[in-house]
Amino acid sequence: MLKISTSILSTKNRIKSIEQLNETTTDYIHIDVMDNKFVPNYQFPLNEIKKLAKFSNKLFDIHLMVQEPEKYIKELNNKKVDSITIHIEISQNIDSLIRLIRSYGIEVGLAIKPNTNLNRLNKYIEKVDKILIMSVEPGFGGQKFIENTVDRIIELRNKKADILIEVDGGINDETIDKIKHISDIAVVGRYITNKEYYQEAINKLKN
Ligand code: DX5
Ligand code: ZN
Repeated sequence: MLKISTSILSTKNRIKSIEQLNETTTDYIHIDVMDNKFVPNYQFPLNEIKKLAKFSNKLFDIHLMVQEPEKYIKELNNKKVDSITIHIEISQNIDSLIRLIRSYGIEVGLAIKPNTNLNRLNKYIEKVDKILIMSVEPGFGGQKFIENTVDRIIELRNKKADILIEVDGGINDETIDKIKHISDIAVVGRYITNKEYYQEAINKLKN
């Protein structure tokens, strides 16, 4: 069954949002980390993530949109962290970052932007636990789902049938129908966090 990872990027009171999410059936809480270099936005300083983890009874799914992930990985090896995802587009040694994440017993994800050729994943696909396919340009919440993501998911499945596929950006009660039978985890931000009752939105997505 499709899992939901709720992104709290667009929330105003993040502690309150986490406390609300604790009471829902969201599978994970998605944390979008941005360095203002890889993407033109700066979000979630490490101290804030550590503080938020204390309020959460859900596991964190960390999405690192940063040029230099090493320090983030070293600081985030926390019991509340289920997975750490780095981007294939960065100019760093991907193999050693994968090993670093694994050394903490944390699941490894590799993310890819909408315009990056999927063949760039070939070398790593056997070494990671999941691929995060961006269905919007990374950097901001509330963007429109890019339609050819569906073809890209299918192409990725053909590369490795049992790889976990996470889809991130522009997912709501309509766009979810395009991806729910071909992917494993949907990252959903505003569609859930703009609602008064998060669980109602989650139910719609899961049904
Ligand atoms: C975009 C982020 C997404 C975003 C999803 O850079 O990676 O996780 O927060 O938010 P919505 O669902 O609002 O598009
Ligand atoms: Zn994300």
